[in-house]
Amino acid sequence: MLEKQIEYIKSITDFKPEILIVLGSGLSALGDEIENARIIDYKDIPDFPVSTAPSHIGRFVFGMLGGKKVAVMQGRVHLYEGYTPQEVVMPLRLIRLLGANKLILTNAAGAINNTYNVGELMAICDHISLFVESALMGKNEDTLGVRFPDMSEIYSKRLTNILHETADEIGVKLNDGVYVQLNGPQFESPAEIRMLAKLGADAVGMSTVIEAQAARHCGFEVCAISVLSNMACGISDKPITSEEVNEAGKKTAPLFKELIKKSIGKF
Ligand code: HPA
Repeated sequence: MLEKQIEYIKSITDFKPEILIVLGSGLSALGDEIENARIIDYKDIPDFPVSTAPSHIGRFVFGMLGGKKVAVMQGRVHLYEGYTPQEVVMPLRLIRLLGANKLILTNAAGAINNTYNVGELMAICDHISLFVESALMGKNEDTLGVRFPDMSEIYSKRLTNILHETADEIGVKLNDGVYVQLNGPQFESPAEIRMLAKLGADAVGMSTVIEAQAARHCGFEVCAISVLSNMACGISDKPITSEEVNEAGKKTAPLFKELIKKSIGKF
């Protein structure tokens, strides 16, 4: 699987990442901290999906961060861009096949839980996937994982505890909550947010869940952080814009960078 893409990457570098970090909206600055960076644009990889979302640069950065060998995705691809679930998870499968076995997913999300504040961070402790199609539909890739993968601990307690410990050490508030993914690209209506709150969601976004599922299937140990970029529709009366979502990411960037850099040293 993904032979052509692996061959292309191997023709450029023999770097073997241990950890994959997927950077969401407004969060790409962390990629600029990578030491000895090797950059590979998605558009140069054969038959590979290319990011079209605002502030998603669309490239891999390989190099060192916090003493670990990392691959960073500066930008992901989303279902709302018209990609299939299988295309959305191609980049993470590729990095898994290059040897990485730990994954940090990040995103910007709308806060449904009204005890949260805009600009805070949330470690994802579980998710609701029922509104999006699984990337595991169709013929199972037996070389990647089993037909019916267990989802009882999607987000590793071990890695999430490290995130919490590190957040305490550096004085960053890190909430813990359930994330729900919807297709987008439209933000939700107030009635939809009321429904999602009743279902137990603390934050909502347009990514991450199908990636986490596919990542568990292929054997990644996974953790995830949301930047709460806005209060979800109806929790606040203010209309939501993609500009404020990206701005919130950028504002949180220094704390977010420190949290990730210090945490991965202990992964
Ligand atoms: N809804 C969905 N996706 C989002 C939001 C939101 O309120 N904020 C950032 N991504």
